[in-house]
Amino acid sequence: MPDHPAEPRLLVRGGPELRGQVSVSGAKNSALKLMAASLLASGVSVLHNVPDIQDVGTMKEVLEHLGAVVQFSDATLTVDTRAVRSHVAPYELVQRMRASIQIMGPLVARFGHARVAMPGGCNLGPRKIDIHLRGLTDMGAVVDSEHGFVEVSAKKLKGASVFLDYPSVGATENLLMAAVLADGVTVLENAAREPEIVDLCKFLMSMGAEIEGAGSSTIRVTGVEEMVSAEHTVLGDRIEAGTFLIAGALTGGEVEVNGIHPHVLELFLSKLRSAGVQVQEGTRSIKASGDPRTYRAVDVATLPFPGFPTDLQAQMMTLLSVADGVSLVTENVFEQRFGFVDELIRLGADIRVDGNHAVVTGGRALTGAIVRCPDLRAGAALALAGLVAEGCTELREIHHIDRGYERFEEKLRSLGADIERSVVEDGGLV
Ligand code: EPZ
Repeated sequence: MPDHPAEPRLLVRGGPELRGQVSVSGAKNSALKLMAASLLASGVSVLHNVPDIQDVGTMKEVLEHLGAVVQFSDATLTVDTRAVRSHVAPYELVQRMRASIQIMGPLVARFGHARVAMPGGCNLGPRKIDIHLRGLTDMGAVVDSEHGFVEVSAKKLKGASVFLDYPSVGATENLLMAAVLADGVTVLENAAREPEIVDLCKFLMSMGAEIEGAGSSTIRVTGVEEMVSAEHTVLGDRIEAGTFLIAGALTGGEVEVNGIHPHVLELFLSKLRSAGVQVQEGTRSIKASGDPRTYRAVDVATLPFPGFPTDLQAQMMTLLSVADGVSLVTENVFEQRFGFVDELIRLGADIRVDGNHAVVTGGRALTGAIVRCPDLRAGAALALAGLVAEGCTELREIHHIDRGYERFEEKLRSLGADIERSVVEDGGLV
């Protein structure tokens, strides 16, 4: 019995140099949290520059499940929360998208109660929420876990000093959204500093929140009585930008991404430069170009912002697979984020993994093959490899890519890539 006989696949033919300009969409990892934050007020919030991706569709379903009315067209999304009655995030939706748990903070803060299915692990390894729950407990909430659900309740959250064991993005966001309606002052120490956190704080402040220190590791929130609905434009997606910059560099072309501030990718850009890629920074744009025959090995270690983003680790490993020399890639954020390495090896890369280290021996010519996308960023990295592999690369399980990249192959094609989405009868490549 053939597997997934008619599932859509991406066919990528290596060769063309990518050239031109591409605009990034709004950031997935901000838009999802802004949608959850709209629950903090009763009214209609309006979000612009929202990417048309599957995860936004799933968060829309989560909000509708709670009773909100959500409309989405032409990158503008409105959330009407006046009829929100339920405080439950069901198993099906949380399993489909872990970020569904970001409704926990807003629901407890506004309604005093949230019941969220426990998110399991994923292809990136165990995804605990202990830091989220400990912070809420510090703010006076009662947390119960039973039957696969976490139940969080509090008559009124209280401001507290919360020290995060690890600068978790999700925990910082959930606790920020909880603290804006708490009684008194909350100080989050060792908070995450990602640009998406700053974007969330901007939206919360436009809803009436009092926040100091957004983007630093100490965030101070003075609780307010009430939040009001507001309007906001989502910041550009830095991970999408990094993906397209590597596409240009990898193919020996020249790609300019628009709609992104270079400072949100500083360390990534410096690693590209160290590898021999030409990088030019504009006010709201970045250009990458170069000759892959001159690229050289660099060591990369992922860390929370402003460190090297873990969401660009796989794409960078593709570049290092063709660069001359031996690179060491260390994954410090997720325990199991080398799941795609075997697929890259199928395309001819030479990589040895030992725990959270991967030794990449570059200078290899890649050849097209059938590969499976284990997760979102790995899928993008395998598509990038297909752009320089000899012959055709067939990507399967591309639903992972659709979760987080808007019009992925269309944008690559607009830069000259030979890539198409097609339903291939089983048996795969001819
Ligand atoms: C966000 O995930 C992003 N997802 C991830 O992007 C990104 O990789 C990650 O931040 C790091 O930058 C969204 O924004 C939807 P964390 P999140 O909490 O919030 C551990 C992509 O490809 N941890 O900072 O889940 C955890 O297990 C996705 O777009 C605890 O131990 O990341 C992980 O190892 C993938 N306890 C590490 O911290 C906790 O309570 C980082 O997690 C929370 C986290």
